[in-house]
Amino acid sequence: MAQIAYVNGRYVPLRDANVHIEDRGYQFADGIYEVCLVIDGAFWDLEGHLARMERSLGELDMPAPMSRAALLQTMKELIRRNRLRDALVYIQATRGVAARNHVFPPEGTPGGLVMTAKRFDLDGSDAIAETGVRVISHPDIRWGRVDIKSVSLLPNVLAKQAAKEAGAAEAWLTCDDVVTEGSSSNAWIVDSDGTLITHPKGNHILGGITRETALACAAELQMRVEERPFTLVEARAAAEAFITSATNLVTPVIAVDDAAIGDGKPGPVSRRLREAYKLRARGLRA
Ligand code: PDD
Repeated sequence: MAQIAYVNGRYVPLRDANVHIEDRGYQFADGIYEVCLVIDGAFWDLEGHLARMERSLGELDMPAPMSRAALLQTMKELIRRNRLRDALVYIQATRGVAARNHVFPPEGTPGGLVMTAKRFDLDGSDAIAETGVRVISHPDIRWGRVDIKSVSLLPNVLAKQAAKEAGAAEAWLTCDDVVTEGSSSNAWIVDSDGTLITHPKGNHILGGITRETALACAAELQMRVEERPFTLVEARAAAEAFITSATNLVTPVIAVDDAAIGDGKPGPVSRRLREAYKLRARGLRA
């Protein structure tokens, strides 16, 4: 069955899913996006994703492409048409199509909205989590509002490519030796006392929805957490490290650049947190 996409009011086979060349998302990266999961037929962490999407739109003074209720209805219809129970849904909203001009288009210009849905297996990354992933450090050259989930991802793309070329799965972005976050995930370390450390929310990181849920899981497991900046030096000396994102869930990190983390294997804290996170995602308690 051909994958079906939603494009500006129509459900079309993915191969026919096109947008206008003057869509401002294409020309100016003038748009925002969300990535969320459907697990066993139900949206996971939906409130967080919709609230973040509304915040991203608001911060960019971009009108919502449709009401929250209509958006949810469209997401459900897309899942139904693709006959999915476990899915990754990509939503992208832009400031619409207009003759190329940096200033906002005239009021009333309809915003662009596209969505795709593809199969997602919650256990699909288990093998990778078992071995853990390597990360590299990379300069954080992004703009000052990375808390907005904008489609302007060029620095993230370059960092991820650098990681791939170094045989790593992720790039940890550094600013004045502080690790802000990964190119498409939030960064965490665990110190020798078992305290979890992750950069605080603010303009320097994207407030991950998985990060929020991982914090809730950590609280439930009575783990100590410090939301504070940590340095690359601390990361290299950490007992454990891991990343969080909608697609990676909680994935252990076993090396930063050439430094093994702990004994170079996924640590117990990261493993417990991943397990607790997956249980929650399935609607179960740790
Ligand atoms: N990325 N930081 C950045 C820069 C990200 O791009 C992401 C998500 C996260 C984690 O956010 P969340 O937990 O809400 O997924 C943090 C998505 C998955 C992506 O770009 O595909």
